[in-house]
Amino acid sequence: MDIRTRLSLRYLSRMTKTARGRAFILNQLADAESNGENKVFESVLKHVDDPSLQKMIEKHQADEIRHAKLYRAAAERQGVPIAPAPDHLKIIDRLDRAVGGFLNSPITDGQGVMEAYVMLQVIEERGITQFKLLAQAFRETDPQSADLIDEIAGDEERHLRYCLAISRRYAPDESTRLATLKKYRDIEAQCFADNSQAMMQHTFANDYFSGGPLVKWFWKQIQGLGQRSGELPYTTYAVAA
Ligand SMILES: [Fe+2]
Ligand SMILES: [Fe+2]
Repeated sequence: MDIRTRLSLRYLSRMTKTARGRAFILNQLADAESNGENKVFESVLKHVDDPSLQKMIEKHQADEIRHAKLYRAAAERQGVPIAPAPDHLKIIDRLDRAVGGFLNSPITDGQGVMEAYVMLQVIEERGITQFKLLAQAFRETDPQSADLIDEIAGDEERHLRYCLAISRRYAPDESTRLATLKKYRDIEAQCFADNSQAMMQHTFANDYFSGGPLVKWFWKQIQGLGQRSGELPYTTYAVAA
């Protein structure tokens, strides 16, 4: 585990110490699972005529709807009031803005199918990376949610295989697919860094984080250091590429 991952785990473990912190995280996950991707599946389906790929898309769509419900139920199980997920912390919306809108732009050809599936691949890569950390962070205080997150991470690994199969099938050539993947991974890592900063402010302001002023100061310094280093928080998938 590298230093950034170890720090992320320690940070998340402070958030999972309280029911409020756990409910906040699980509600954020429920929101991300139900955030806009549905339109992409509908739009892509109009251009995919291979029945085996159609099946993947339908299964993928059904899984994400199920994941949202499971995370919502886990959030409610914490037994505390849950505020709606704040708009400015929605990572998928942030990503959508950064690429000039992929959630609502119609897909008109095979190239569009590839681009949509490379974007979904990058979202899955982040999801798997974060879920694995979150499962560890939840393990001690809420093993039931930890098991759920692990199970969902397994589904996301299957989705990653769907994304690869579909984006490869619709790519005009392999170099275009790889260039698109690199471009979207760069954009996503920047969005994730920006969202993490906003998330820290929000969790400190709302006491979803277990720790006094000195502890919070420490974590702000850590985040500041990360930003000034200019190193983007790539997932392990992007680093291995
Ligand atoms: Fe999911
Ligand atoms: Fe997924």
